Amino acid sequence: MKRSTSTSTLIQNLPLNIPNSLPRHVAIIMDGNGRWATQRGLPRIAGHYQGAEVVKDILRCCKEWGIKILTVYAFSTENWGRPTAEVDFLMGLFERLLRVQLKEMQQEGICLRFLGELDVLPLSLQREMQRTIDITSQNQEVYFNVAINYSGRQEIVRACRHLAKLVQQGELLPDAIDETIIQQSLYTLDLPSPDLLIRTSGEMRLSNFLLWQLAYTEIYFTNTLWGDFNCEEFRKAIEDYQGRERRFGKL
Ligand code: IPE
Ligand code: IPE
Ligand code: MG
Repeated sequence: MKRSTSTSTLIQNLPLNIPNSLPRHVAIIMDGNGRWATQRGLPRIAGHYQGAEVVKDILRCCKEWGIKILTVYAFSTENWGRPTAEVDFLMGLFERLLRVQLKEMQQEGICLRFLGELDVLPLSLQREMQRTIDITSQNQEVYFNVAINYSGRQEIVRACRHLAKLVQQGELLPDAIDETIIQQSLYTLDLPSPDLLIRTSGEMRLSNFLLWQLAYTEIYFTNTLWGDFNCEEFRKAIEDYQGRERRFGKL
């Protein structure tokens, strides 16, 4: 599947009217959909459906508050290990959401990109993804990244292979490999690292999400299930972040 990099320069040139303490980039591990549904006596898929509604609200908050980049974990490579019916439902849901939401995302100025190994996804979903990437690529209100079939370790392996090939072809010297070059070989390309990572549902782990990019990210865990997360909960997470001192190893 063709990957679009046409938004790269736009992201580098983000306007500087963002208040200092507001995170520029928020990443979210949207967890707890199954439990949200089970609590209500509903099938797990009902939780994923509700989860999609929450994403829309959070995206609106980002636009309203001036958070420029939102990256969400929608499906991990490990999630293929779930029952086929749940996986199929999720793939269908992603495709339907893209089709139904495209017009609104376009109106709201959302620029959509996907992180992950996309070319093994159902072809009809890949087509919908590419269409969305192409149509929204010039939008600049919020850069919305969705990790689908994503693995942080696999992303690093892929970058290593890519750089090894360049060295083999004589296009790159081993000593020229530095953090910037590795970073640019990741799915996230030139996106700045997340300032804040939120994980819902009380789980306190990364589950293979953005392993390289989260090196200095502030982390916020909440017991709230993703299906119950909302603008108020999001505001609490941002306020918590704003009270922190980011030292980056310095004093
Ligand atoms: C997160 O919710 C969504 C995906 C992984 C697709 P879960 O489906 O993991 O919900 P729980 O953790 O089982 O409650
Ligand atoms: C992480 O949640 C993946 C997504 C939110 C898409 P999981 O529910 O799959 O993670 P584990 O299994 O609890 O670590
Ligand atoms: Mg889970």
